[in-house]
Amino acid sequence: PFEAAIFDLDGVIVDTAKFHYKAWKRLAGELGFAFSESENEQLKGVSRMESLDLLLRCGGLTDVSPERREALASRKNEWYKELLATLTPADVLPGVGSFLGLLRSRGIKTGIASASQNAPLIIDKVNIGPLFDAVVDGNSIVRAKPDPEVFLQAARLLGVAPAACFVFEDAAAGVEGALRAGMRVVGIGNGKLLARSHLAITSFEQLEPIFLMSHIGAAGH
Ligand code: G6P
Ligand code: MG
Repeated sequence: PFEAAIFDLDGVIVDTAKFHYKAWKRLAGELGFAFSESENEQLKGVSRMESLDLLLRCGGLTDVSPERREALASRKNEWYKELLATLTPADVLPGVGSFLGLLRSRGIKTGIASASQNAPLIIDKVNIGPLFDAVVDGNSIVRAKPDPEVFLQAARLLGVAPAACFVFEDAAAGVEGALRAGMRVVGIGNGKLLARSHLAITSFEQLEPIFLMSHIGAAGH
């Protein structure tokens, strides 16, 4: 049975994925190449520097010094933070608040497992901190998703065995990381990209939470 629910942040709890895309696209534009939404998919869930490397590769720019990479990444992050400044509690994705409330009322622990170093800022802007028992983010992990580290740390903080956790993820790298952690995974968004998840949904709203819990509880993995 389930004792904890662990949520990715960007694209699951808050629609910051569109801000990441805007900022990366702007950087690509300055560097002189186009960057499509489908190319952006592979950046989801991936750390800032790895995302930059993927972006540069899309533009055919492979010979960029580490100093220049640092400068480009912080440039992107400044634009991204300008977009984050506009966040309000209304930007929490539909259905998330009531689903979290339901989990907590049943004594299920809740956690965040995010690759983002901006997670504390985002959590503060949309005021969801009180809904979570533990937060692990890009400031406290060494290995980025698809490494399972961020999920295992969250489970440890929650005091729950990985097999008793389920994870909500919108990115292929995150689904992979959660599977490697030995957890069950619900993919949110593009079903094709989340093919390896145990269950794929398009939004929390669409979901009858009680059905979800019994459905994945019966999956028997
Ligand atoms: C999340 C997002 C990624 C982002 C990463 C690092 O996982 O899905 O798109 O690159 O966090 O975010 P940061 O805010 O530290 O640049
Ligand atoms: Mg995400």
